[in-house]
Amino acid sequence: MIRLLILILFFFSSCLNEKKKGDNLTIIPKPQKMILESGVFSLNNNTGIKFDSLFINELNFLKNIISLDLTGSKNYIVLKQNIFLEDEEYYLNISKNTITIEASNGKGCMHAIQSLRQLFPINYKKNTENLEIQCLEIHDFPRFKWRGMLLDCCRHFMDKDFIKRYIDLLAFHKMNILHLHLTEDQGWRIAIEKYPKLTDIGAWRINKNGEKYGGFYSKDDLIEIIEYAKKQHIEIIPEIELPGHSVAAIASYPYLSCTGDSLEVENDWGVFKDIYCAGNDSVYTFLENVLTEVMEIFPSQYIHIGGDEAPKYRWRECIKCQKRIRDEKLKDEHELQSYFIKRIEKFISKNGKRIIGWDEIIEGGIAPSATIQSWRGIDGGILAAQKNHDVIMSPTSHCYFDYDLQAINLEKVYSFEPIPKGLTEKESKHIIGGECNMWSEHAPQESIDSKVFPRILAMAEVLWSENNKDFKDFQSRVRNHYPKLDLFGVKYGYEKTPIDYDIKIINNNFRVEIFKSYKKMDLKYKIDDNNWQKYTRPIIINKSAIINVKEVNSIRDNPASKEIKLNKHLALGKKINYLTAYDKNYPANGNNSLSNGIFGDLSNFRDGQWQGFFAKDVEVIIDLEEELEFSEIKTSFFQYNLSWIIIPKKIEIMISSNGKDFIIYDQKNFNSNPMQEGKFKKEFKFNKKQSARFIKLIAKNFGKLPEKHPAAGSDCWIFIDEIIIK
Ligand code: ACM
Ligand code: ZN
Repeated sequence: MIRLLILILFFFSSCLNEKKKGDNLTIIPKPQKMILESGVFSLNNNTGIKFDSLFINELNFLKNIISLDLTGSKNYIVLKQNIFLEDEEYYLNISKNTITIEASNGKGCMHAIQSLRQLFPINYKKNTENLEIQCLEIHDFPRFKWRGMLLDCCRHFMDKDFIKRYIDLLAFHKMNILHLHLTEDQGWRIAIEKYPKLTDIGAWRINKNGEKYGGFYSKDDLIEIIEYAKKQHIEIIPEIELPGHSVAAIASYPYLSCTGDSLEVENDWGVFKDIYCAGNDSVYTFLENVLTEVMEIFPSQYIHIGGDEAPKYRWRECIKCQKRIRDEKLKDEHELQSYFIKRIEKFISKNGKRIIGWDEIIEGGIAPSATIQSWRGIDGGILAAQKNHDVIMSPTSHCYFDYDLQAINLEKVYSFEPIPKGLTEKESKHIIGGECNMWSEHAPQESIDSKVFPRILAMAEVLWSENNKDFKDFQSRVRNHYPKLDLFGVKYGYEKTPIDYDIKIINNNFRVEIFKSYKKMDLKYKIDDNNWQKYTRPIIINKSAIINVKEVNSIRDNPASKEIKLNKHLALGKKINYLTAYDKNYPANGNNSLSNGIFGDLSNFRDGQWQGFFAKDVEVIIDLEEELEFSEIKTSFFQYNLSWIIIPKKIEIMISSNGKDFIIYDQKNFNSNPMQEGKFKKEFKFNKKQSARFIKLIAKNFGKLPEKHPAAGSDCWIFIDEIIIK
């Protein structure tokens, strides 16, 4: 019996030891194969180096991170070339006396060093006298060759040191592509010798608060960044957007547009109708001169030429563009865009390089050697792969790190599968990898870390590891990884919405349950102006109120908080019958959203409360469950014309006692103006005393966007909020 107890105790204590020892033995992205062995290697002043001269750059990198000159002779690190290994593949073998790295080239060697670095003790600091590293064996190689991240340094400028820090972080996680979005409506960020106004004028905007904002990279800055990246085997891909997103260039040189009118560098976010004129040969000369300088600076094989979101409104009105359509026997403005892209592609190909474009460049005919970056879902990528074009997958559903955690959390990113179902093996080979996109409209430099981390860890693993489908295992490795990110000073954000909530209506009371994103999080809440109290269980409340929730004792710089506004009214919690269906991408909280007592945010239509309907009316029936008397019905709609969300042109309300025979209660027309800018909410209110059980609300869609709108001819959205009955 005693022996059995001892055995059990021994078993448990060895499990604990294993766990403790294993805490830092977590590498992200997960290696294809890793076998733990017993013992440790002691890295210290007694450690020496043996290396093949091909790896001198990697050796210097290693020396720099460990601050040792590696002149000892007690144990050794060996960097050895193995010509039989593939590009990027490596072996890392850590035994008590030797750390052996084998790779066929510097890339593989660098990956091995980054894995080694992730195995350093958790409390590792530069100048630590002795680093004990667990003995183990790794054989590793990437699933995809394109493992990228886009930084939008146009909407918000990112300084040179910030970019270099991101290069370090990408390399640490075995990502290999940094895609720099360098030109935009709101700022041109690359100095071009031939066109100095691009940075004298185009790099600066006057923000809405009157402040002059901007910045740019000189040629020397860019060369410095490229060299820095090269040492860690990161390739920088420049993006020069055309024909759209070009207001900053047009503001610098007005002859580039169809109208020639002078414009300001944009200070709003969205899609704008002034784009490069496709009928004017001097535009192509300008772009070829710009691209020539870009190709001189950037050694990358690829140049990204954008191609997304180019409204055709100006081209339809422009004599030169229309002449080009006739002369080139093109069918319409989409074929004109294709002509534009193909002409640029020809120029870039002639210079020995290849283009990448966003999936819009498929429309109207795809340029012969183009690689497609699929962002509007995966369909563009599928089509391109079927046509034998290479594809980089970055659908908004999983890869847009400017979206909030409500839309894309860590688990969602981890579930990303870059190869769509249904492709043949040959077509699948055209999916060369993926990219996460960090657009910066709402993300100044200092906030980027909190959006990118930890989500990029999931992206890195999706793109590198073959065996990446166990989220729980990944999540536990992420938790072990935070101290390693601390060493880089990363201000990581949350894995999912830090404070989330669920509202149930029970016996006409609100039951508000608060969810926290991790177990140890402490939450306090207050109702209206009452005192803060610790949150321990769901809050039951029977009136309209504002509940504020906040995180206390946070390990992050910006503790989480949430405001929940509860509105009590007669339709609260009542069933809504949908005669037209809401869009699957904007379902809010599904069928309960319009009667859950919660208003949508004033400025954010993605807050999970606004329900979206595309290209159709909203038609719903609310069942009050019994005949009730009321004197007010109201609801609100969102408008953001640059996202094609337009207030409905008419609201009709009907009532019924049996759910079949409806009579008109009231109706209102509204002069919706799709040209009205900004984001705002408009309330429709009807006051008339009546009684009924069923209330039908019809909101009429504005219809097609008018000629003046940048997206003329497109259908509109309706976004609707709570329907309140009093
Ligand atoms: C994009 O997000 N417009 C590529
Ligand atoms: Zn034109």
